[in-house]
Amino acid sequence: MSKDLTRVEEILASYDYEPHHLIAIMQDIQSEYKYLSQDMLCLIAQKLGLSIAKVYSVATFYENFSLEAKGKYIIRVCDGTACHVRKSGPIYDAIRKELGLIGKQKTSADGMFTLETVACLGACGLAPVMTVNDVVHAQMTPESALALLDELRKEDAANA
Ligand code: FES
Repeated sequence: MSKDLTRVEEILASYDYEPHHLIAIMQDIQSEYKYLSQDMLCLIAQKLGLSIAKVYSVATFYENFSLEAKGKYIIRVCDGTACHVRKSGPIYDAIRKELGLIGKQKTSADGMFTLETVACLGACGLAPVMTVNDVVHAQMTPESALALLDELRKEDAANA
């Protein structure tokens, strides 16, 4: 099923369909939907009078744009030097295994979690650090990370 693109239309209108606001428009759309789908990119191109190739090249040039649907919870394990030295690698591996991610897959099959790494989160004194939807969790271990996933699952089920 394709996504409801109403907010995309509204965001485009709020920028008066000005092509020079392309990046800001894409940022707003991504913060709303958490990613940019092909349908969204086509709509942006069409409404701004740009080629799809141009819009696509901007979307792929900037690392912050994601062309893949992300999970409800976005987990970022810091892989900066301080965290790496304090064993962030095993935390990442444990989460990846728990989520059953294979190859380049970043999002769990149930669409609940997306796992990424990030370079220094600026909280090196609290290493190893991870974030869940931008909330920082300090001094993690593989065990505490898996316990956190459990907690999130329970919280989510309770709110369902
Ligand atoms: S290296 Fe992880 S917060 Fe700085």
